[in-house]
Amino acid sequence: MRKLTYFIACSIDGFIGDPSGDAQAMYPFVDEEFLAFLKEEYPETISTPGRRAMGLDHLPNRKYDTVVQGRVSYDIAMEMGVTSPYAHMREYVASRTLGESPDPNVTVVSEDLLGTVRALKAEEGNGLGIYLCGGSALAGELIDEIDELVIKTYPIVLGSGMPMFGSGFAVAEFSLGEVRTFKNGAVVRTYDRKR
Ligand SMILES: NC(=O)c1ccc[n+]([C@@H]2O[C@H](COP(=O)([O-])OP(=O)(O)OC[C@H]3O[C@@H](n4cnc5c(N)ncnc54)[C@H](OP(=O)(O)O)[C@@H]3O)[C@@H](O)[C@H]2O)c1
Repeated sequence: MRKLTYFIACSIDGFIGDPSGDAQAMYPFVDEEFLAFLKEEYPETISTPGRRAMGLDHLPNRKYDTVVQGRVSYDIAMEMGVTSPYAHMREYVASRTLGESPDPNVTVVSEDLLGTVRALKAEEGNGLGIYLCGGSALAGELIDEIDELVIKTYPIVLGSGMPMFGSGFAVAEFSLGEVRTFKNGAVVRTYDRKR
């Protein structure tokens, strides 16, 4: 079995972006110390263009070898002409409208998203898990399958915005694991799902 981990950046009040989903207000907190943490522990969560720009293409995957993202999140890369934003992993993009995959490394999941994710989770473990990249709608669809949360909270309040989960109300309990704090006020918390 492999774990499905929602690894996500959010504000103190739990939003992953402004009301349209734009997360640029969080970018300044990825400073030298925070980037060093990402490079050391989660290098695969840095996108391919980011890795190339910073000369990090050689860094091995530490936690995940597969990424799942929603079409709206994928569009951000597509708009920059990038068809494989996480080329160092297997990429799955959920979409009923995208049609044929624009890239050989990207599998478009148009039907049975839940079944596809369950099949990925059921694969034999190799120590690496599945990175649920977002956004809100996709995380809401997959909320019951999430085994772990890694929440990067930046010290900003947005007041309103895109919630971490686009789902209905239901209480799901998690137990707190590692907590990491940074000089700039960012906090990274890891939670395991209580089943
Ligand atoms: N703060 C962060 O760390 C972070 C991380 C990631 C994303 N974001 C933000 O999140 C925003 C996007 O989130 P979002 O909620 O609008 O969209 P999203 O979750 O990225 O994508 C939603 C799309 O996924 C597809 N989809 C969802 N459920 C599906 C299913 N069961 N089967 C097949 N396809 C399915 C649909 O695509 P079709 O319409 O093509 O059918 C749907 O429109 C972006 O603005 C981005 O900036 C923030």
